[in-house]
Amino acid sequence: FEYDLLVVGSANADLVVGVERRPGAGETVLGSDLALHPGGKGANQAVAAARLGARTALLARVGDDAHGRLLLDSQRAAGVDTSGVLVGGAPTGVALITVDPSGDNSIVVSPGANGRLTPDDIREPSASTLLAASRVVSTQLEIPLETVEEVVRGLRPGTRFVLNPSPPRELPAPVLAACDPLIVNEHEARVVLGADAGATPEEWAGALLALGPRSVVVTLGEEGALVADASGTARVPAVEVTAVDTTGAGDSFTAALAWRLGTGESLADSAAYAARVGAVAVTRQGAQASFPTAEEVAAV
Ligand code: RIB
Ligand code: NA
Repeated sequence: FEYDLLVVGSANADLVVGVERRPGAGETVLGSDLALHPGGKGANQAVAAARLGARTALLARVGDDAHGRLLLDSQRAAGVDTSGVLVGGAPTGVALITVDPSGDNSIVVSPGANGRLTPDDIREPSASTLLAASRVVSTQLEIPLETVEEVVRGLRPGTRFVLNPSPPRELPAPVLAACDPLIVNEHEARVVLGADAGATPEEWAGALLALGPRSVVVTLGEEGALVADASGTARVPAVEVTAVDTTGAGDSFTAALAWRLGTGESLADSAAYAARVGAVAVTRQGAQASFPTAEEVAAV
């Protein structure tokens, strides 16, 4: 394989404002100076993996505009292969982000060009070439679900498929069956499962496995994570840190996990490594700017 990881997903310009608290309906609050960062769950994953040393490519769509150039620049600076990044069709996606004093964020995404990454784009020879050349393919849901379905149809035998269904929705059976793993937090687990989600992470993991994925990872924030597959379940401890900005930490977790799995590491060991990557990311401002190198992870 030429690439350890191919990320198929979104690229957004993140417009970030710090707030003491979020406004309610009809309310105005004043926040900090505006920061502009390259973001988007797909672009974040690609940068996170590349910074760890993974040979990484991104398949995405940005607008022919300044935000799109910002995103391409940040990918290239991290060493990501951007030959699969399509340009045009709509403005680059934008994420409107508020970060509160505890480091928690709220995000509204305008998908823009991400919403125009179509199944046809995945069937293009250039995209097929990337899919065939990648050991692991990782996706999220800031691009159309039909596009993710086309990625699943285009997978070659021997390529591992990873999905973080964020933002979450119910998933078609062929997508669920391809996931190895499906990576969810509590909220995402509840949406994917629908009414009968159960009460504990073990119950969510069991119910999710019953939907078809070969493996499941439930991220639990300060409680660490739970990994589950046919051989059983295991808890992965959290790494204790003081959060400054959690934006993108989940993306770095997913990317690190996907990359380590591709090296042949076990699900539990990969998740433990990914938890350390995410822990570094939450201690720093921004999304991509906060992602660690392998050396920095080793020091945690
Ligand atoms: O997961 C974090 C990302 O979500 C941000 O970078 C923002 O772009 C939104 O997509
Ligand atoms: Na961060």
